Amino acid sequence: MRLVLLGPPGAGKGTQSVLLAASLDVPHISTGDLFRGHVERGTALGEQVRAIMTTGGLVPTALTVAVVEERLSHGDAADGFLLDGFPRSTVQAEALDRILASRAQELSAAVLLDLPDDEVVRRIAGRRVCGRDPSHTFHQDTAPPLRAGECDYCGGALHRRTDDEPATVLRRQELYRSETAPLVDYYLRAGLLRRVDALGPVAEVGNRVQRALAASRR
Ligand code: AP5
Repeated sequence: MRLVLLGPPGAGKGTQSVLLAASLDVPHISTGDLFRGHVERGTALGEQVRAIMTTGGLVPTALTVAVVEERLSHGDAADGFLLDGFPRSTVQAEALDRILASRAQELSAAVLLDLPDDEVVRRIAGRRVCGRDPSHTFHQDTAPPLRAGECDYCGGALHRRTDDEPATVLRRQELYRSETAPLVDYYLRAGLLRRVDALGPVAEVGNRVQRALAASRR
């Protein structure tokens, strides 16, 4: 399956992507994680995007599309993928459509994780991520690590993301509303939108996602 996961910052896209990608046996491709990896490694791209990410802005589309196109060219994405955090605007969605069309492929579905603003704020406030692998995500109340401050999977130190400060979260939410929310109509018109209530325990939301995708198996 070729999927995109949409939803506001903190909706649980990364959390659900890890589970869904494993169950579908497709790579989980998170543009946020790719960019954070570059920042961690101090690459030229990382230096370009560091300040943008820290202040909650959007990385320029040309750069983002190039990173995604390169990642989709890897062999593990030939038969399917799960995109998390991309596309984030109509221009990016059109670019993805072009990339797929050039490979005679199309999207299977776009899953929207729906969550009220107050729960978004609660999830982001308690989020802690692993310094070694940012896809290892915890929450101090709802998904605490077994040992305080330590990643369950690899023992890395947990920390708060630099873009999880309240003022930065507000900016990310505004950008979500102005740039990303229009994708709901974009994928609705294409007949690809699968809306999922993201309120509730992780496993329950995961079951809803699976049910929403049951009619999209291809
Ligand atoms: P990115 O990393 O994509 O950030 P985001 O979209 O804002 O999403 P988050 O990672 O904040 O949240 P999430 O929905 O994955 O939630 P999570 O599963 O962690 O992007 C970061 C930055 O990179 C952007 O601001 C931008 O600068 C740049 N960027 C990335 N893509 C770009 C693009 N396409 N174009 C331009 N720039 C781009 O869950 C949150 C918390 O809630 C966790 O603590 C988790 O444990 C907890 N939780 C999850 N599910 C549940 C549940 N069901 N119940 C209770 N708690 C839960």
